Amino acid sequence: MLSVEKQIQLDSEIEQFIALTALILVHPKFKEMRQFIQHGTIDCLDHSISVAFHSYIIAKKLRLDYQSVARGALLHDFFLYDWHHPRASEGLHGFTHARKALENAEKYFTLSNTEREIILKHMWPLNPSLPRKREALVVIFVDKWISLKETLRIRESIAYAYIINQINSFIYLPVDFSNT
Ligand SMILES: [Fe+2]
Ligand SMILES: [Fe+2]
Repeated sequence: MLSVEKQIQLDSEIEQFIALTALILVHPKFKEMRQFIQHGTIDCLDHSISVAFHSYIIAKKLRLDYQSVARGALLHDFFLYDWHHPRASEGLHGFTHARKALENAEKYFTLSNTEREIILKHMWPLNPSLPRKREALVVIFVDKWISLKETLRIRESIAYAYIINQINSFIYLPVDFSNT
């Protein structure tokens, strides 16, 4: 169980993270990532939330543009197909999905240059051009670390489960559009 202090601290970070990314989190197209497994038993939606939240915390500590980090990381794997299927991608998934994710992200969201770079360069070194922005470097390394843990099915901490649950509860809150 989480200590009260830890829970209060996490709640405050989760609240700020949600405030910066809500337009993406509640978008029906973004939620389609739930349908696709990313690594092990983790779907693309939870993988993206995990990479985005951890990257956001690190970017904040490093005094980087943490809003772009959170939004860009949420969309870094927004390719929307089952990559385990041999013919699902145009070309080898590892080399092509960053561009596909960016294409999809531009269709549904207005992106900053930093967000574009985060999505497009996140597969370095498979996409060989090194990113110029430190925000993109943070996402590259967090994505690799989280992906490795998911692939090896390393058991996540209670704090991790709490973060994923809280953000998922926000994503699936009923939204009343009747007055808009
Ligand atoms: Fe990726
Ligand atoms: Fe990823």
